[in-house]
Amino acid sequence: MTPLVIKNLTKKYGRLVAVEGVSFEIQRGEVFGLLGPNGAGKTTIISNIVTLQSFSEGSIEVFGINVQKNPRLAKARIGFVPQELIHHGFFTVEEILKYHATYFGIPLDKEHLKYLLDKLHLYHHRKKLVNQLSGGMKRRLLIIKALLHKPKLLLLDEPTAGVDVELRASLWKFIQELKKENLSILLTTHYLEEAELLCDRIGILDHGRLRKVDTTEKMLQDYSSKKVSLKLCSPLEKVSHPLLTAQSDHLLDFQVPNEMPLSQLFQEASIPMNCIQDINIKMGTLEDVMQTILTGDES
Ligand SMILES: Nc1ncnc2c1ncn2[C@@H]1O[C@H](COP(=O)(O)OP(=O)(O)OP(=O)(O)O)[C@@H](O)[C@H]1O
Ligand SMILES: [Mg+2]
Repeated sequence: MTPLVIKNLTKKYGRLVAVEGVSFEIQRGEVFGLLGPNGAGKTTIISNIVTLQSFSEGSIEVFGINVQKNPRLAKARIGFVPQELIHHGFFTVEEILKYHATYFGIPLDKEHLKYLLDKLHLYHHRKKLVNQLSGGMKRRLLIIKALLHKPKLLLLDEPTAGVDVELRASLWKFIQELKKENLSILLTTHYLEEAELLCDRIGILDHGRLRKVDTTEKMLQDYSSKKVSLKLCSPLEKVSHPLLTAQSDHLLDFQVPNEMPLSQLFQEASIPMNCIQDINIKMGTLEDVMQTILTGDES
């Protein structure tokens, strides 16, 4: 059974069409990144999957279970980390988690709870009231909460927002471990390096519409280019090449398609190898991809 199948999803808030005709699937063990600007409709799609919001058109199936017809059954298979932080101020971390564990009618697996508290660096904070936690700690608490019932589909809505650099790196490692355990993950993030590192495939959402879905690799190949800067030993005569972006006495800059070999570039631009003192290559990023797709500058 496919972990997540969304077909032709449309969600309106009154007259505002927040999501329009969106379709995509997530396979087993896959990390799928849903990227897009503020207000693109990412959280709305996630809210529709977990039935926090109803939708009028389309269908969503989680492991073959229709979320509208069988919300409880579907939700038992989903772990959900919401974008908004929680405010259960009067309970301790441990109390919240113990209470939540019983929500799906599954007895608390104490070993699993300890494992998750350790893994997300909250074990030593387990006796604290939630309102005594920092923002980053609250977010980690949400991640534990989402994983407590051992779901097979994980929805992460900006899981690393407000998390410091070190913890972000440890969360990335953790997400990669979850993927190895064959969890399927839907991730939204505004950190594009995070998406590039973690996501097998990416969907770019804009004004509620899915503009592009492809593997991260293919997106980078098709919609970004590398910047090649050459430091020269001695000045060259004026170089003429369509990919040249800047020339000064000791510097040449080119914007080159990712797959184009440099030998071809040097040959085409008649640059002798013995003139090159140093080469600096900056590979294209998902930021370029987003910019190209969202500005409609796809040539
Ligand atoms: N409960 C609501 N009632 C009315 N409009 C809403 C509601 N929730 C979201 N919207 C609107 O729907 C659109 C999509 O919002 P959504 O929260 O899904 O965007 P997002 O892609 O998650 O953005 P962000 O990156 O800022 O989290 C926005 O125009 C937003 O104002
Ligand atoms: Mg959002």
